[in-house]
Amino acid sequence: MGQSEGNSSAAFIIGSSWVGTCNRGSFSYASEELRRQFESIRVRKISDGDVFRFDVGADEKQVLDSIVRRPPVFLRHLQPIHLEVALQGDDSDLPRIREAVRGADWELNVLRVAVQARKAEGSQPPYTPLQVKQAIDEALVSVFAAEPTVHQMEKIISVFLTPAQALIGCSGPDDNLSSWSGGAVHFRKEDGDISRAKFKLMEAELAFGLDFSAFRNALDIGAAPGGWSSFLLERGLSVTAIDPAAMHPSLMKHPKFIYLNKNASEVLLRDKSFDLIVCDMSWEPRRMAQLVSELLEALAPGGTVVSTVKLMHGKPFATLRHVQAVFEPKLKLARAKQLFHNREELTCVWRKN
Ligand SMILES: C[S@@+](CC[C@H](N)C(=O)[O-])C[C@H]1O[C@@H](n2cnc3c(N)ncnc32)[C@H](O)[C@@H]1O
Repeated sequence: MGQSEGNSSAAFIIGSSWVGTCNRGSFSYASEELRRQFESIRVRKISDGDVFRFDVGADEKQVLDSIVRRPPVFLRHLQPIHLEVALQGDDSDLPRIREAVRGADWELNVLRVAVQARKAEGSQPPYTPLQVKQAIDEALVSVFAAEPTVHQMEKIISVFLTPAQALIGCSGPDDNLSSWSGGAVHFRKEDGDISRAKFKLMEAELAFGLDFSAFRNALDIGAAPGGWSSFLLERGLSVTAIDPAAMHPSLMKHPKFIYLNKNASEVLLRDKSFDLIVCDMSWEPRRMAQLVSELLEALAPGGTVVSTVKLMHGKPFATLRHVQAVFEPKLKLARAKQLFHNREELTCVWRKN
């Protein structure tokens, strides 16, 4: 839904407004990417953590098409802004939000609709995001004949609460880049999980649409203590792990697990023996790329590499270009994204030519 801004010199005649979210500390990179992608844009941070509003001189479809064509690395989540409700910070806010939603022209008849409400860091309205969700759920049933849900939703009503406004929009889960509220993907830690690093690979599977169970034989470089190896074993793959550090004892008896207790620069591997290489080495990115490059003969043509790229020097775009330069022409970059579970790093998917 387009909107115009009458009180600003940067008024957009045809445009759209959004709430964007990236990882804490990545706001400047996320906004730089958006500015490169859209000629006419205004971006401003609306909460620590990092949440920002951006107004673009392009309609919603144009924005989404552009983001599909050139998926950003740092933008983790976005929601359109269709309604801007002024808040008083008192009990009158909930009925006002509900009334605004009741009046919206969304087509939600018999659809499964999730309401995802979040608030700005540090703001303390006298109601919770859950109460906002409940107020909107009531309108969903009585006005839109929709079915409120939290899973397998067909539409999402997203609400971001600043101290002064509720920014509300309705969209499809794919259009938000993530079906999780704010793109904050939460996995339950199971008994026996070896490391939280496993969550990175689980999130990569979702974010990049990878089906790890379709691979047969994986090489895990820099594998200890073994979160990634254990996840790939759970998906049914055979795994060869390389690390001079010890692997978790629970892996050692697994019939499909081989452990090479070595530095990756010292191993000899059979040509084309793997269809997947994963690498989560905590190393300077160009040295990591050099080391992985030297093992690429072991990857079959068309094989996939999933690697983290540490952001050590505060220049993520240059770092990624340098890593690409080392990998090319052997590997082509398919996707790069800062996942919710990435800290000072990106996760990349590469394909062997
Ligand atoms: C962040 S940890 C990996 C965590 C792992 N993905 C998991 O899920 O448990 C990085 C690992 O890289 C290993 N590493 C660093 N340099 C290496 C090298 N040259 N060869 C092999 N492993 C290396 C370290 O020993 C460390 O265990």
